[in-house]
Amino acid sequence: MTVQPPTERVKPEAKPGILDITPYKPGKSAAEGVEHPVKLSGNENILGCSEAAREAYLAAAGQLNLYPDGRGTVLRNAIAQRWRVEPERIVLGCGTDEVLHLINQVFLEPGDNIVQGQYAFGAYGIGARACQAEVKSAAERRFRIDVELMLELVDARTKLVFITQPANPTGTFCTRDELVRLHAGLPPSVVLVIDAAYAEFCTDPTFSDGLELARGADNIIVTHTFSKIHGLASLRVGWGYAPATIADAIDRIRPPFNVSNPALSAAVAALGDTEFQARSLAHIEQWRPWLAQQLGGVGLEVVRSGANFVLVGFPTTPGKTAAEAEAYLAHRGLIVRGVANYGLPNHLRITIGLEEHNRALVDHLAAFLGGR
Ligand SMILES: Cc1ncc(COP(=O)(O)O)c(C=O)c1O
Repeated sequence: MTVQPPTERVKPEAKPGILDITPYKPGKSAAEGVEHPVKLSGNENILGCSEAAREAYLAAAGQLNLYPDGRGTVLRNAIAQRWRVEPERIVLGCGTDEVLHLINQVFLEPGDNIVQGQYAFGAYGIGARACQAEVKSAAERRFRIDVELMLELVDARTKLVFITQPANPTGTFCTRDELVRLHAGLPPSVVLVIDAAYAEFCTDPTFSDGLELARGADNIIVTHTFSKIHGLASLRVGWGYAPATIADAIDRIRPPFNVSNPALSAAVAALGDTEFQARSLAHIEQWRPWLAQQLGGVGLEVVRSGANFVLVGFPTTPGKTAAEAEAYLAHRGLIVRGVANYGLPNHLRITIGLEEHNRALVDHLAAFLGGR
């Protein structure tokens, strides 16, 4: 092979479409001029994590030289027992994010498409575009998925349909009946992916995380995470429950040691700490309606949420806009999430905080809107 002189070398180029992808934008964690801001922008667990999980994590420090169990057997068995599902149908990932990427890679060829809701979580589209697939987004009504509009977008090149239960950034969810209707309307070759990252925060009787439906189906994958109710976002553990053949396909391309040993150990302990989970849920159930009522009381529109955050609509009047409110709150030490990148320029997504954060939030927003 002849080596070209440097000036004539052709530079490596990412494959078509990669540089058109807008990178995922995480919630901000710093506010200029504020030393210890409160982060209400990442939908993390404001109570921290289970003490048992923290101890398990620290105990794993004695084995940092060893590769983890690549199959994550202990954690898969613990998940299987807790949710009464088959362990061989569980796939572990470095966060749900990785599980979602793997699903896209298994199913999507260039020219295929995925169908999602108008305000869908950004990771679905990024993963699909990385496979040179098209992203089709169905209009939502009042921030809720419309099953019929989703189904209308499904065509011969659709491989995956994504639903988020409850959704991020809207907090809304489909009822169990709507999930059943969506699944029934899909061709059997299309996989319905139900991302249940926030499901543990939703106790509405009409809600379902889809696991029950997935048990007997050949084309449903449900994903869950340890980042939210278990408070282990930093450790990156997520899982998917898939039909056996799909779990097998995902496992073939899954990086062999994708969940670290400290993460596996902490996740097993977290799963066993039902007291921490109950406390986390109780906190959200106490403050979610309070925030909705209080923010509604100062004239803001709060979208009904089944998650650990609320989506809040602001006026478009100059001086009172969502972007200005975000800056005003940041200046006072509360970092919330602007969601203009989701096509919601007049809204902010706010993670439910501790009592003092929630009270401060309401007071600041009342002052902001009152022009004080
Ligand atoms: C809807 C949704 N799915 C998945 C994730 C990613 O979860 P993980 O931390 O398990 O990667 C998030 C994180 O915020 C999310 O909001």
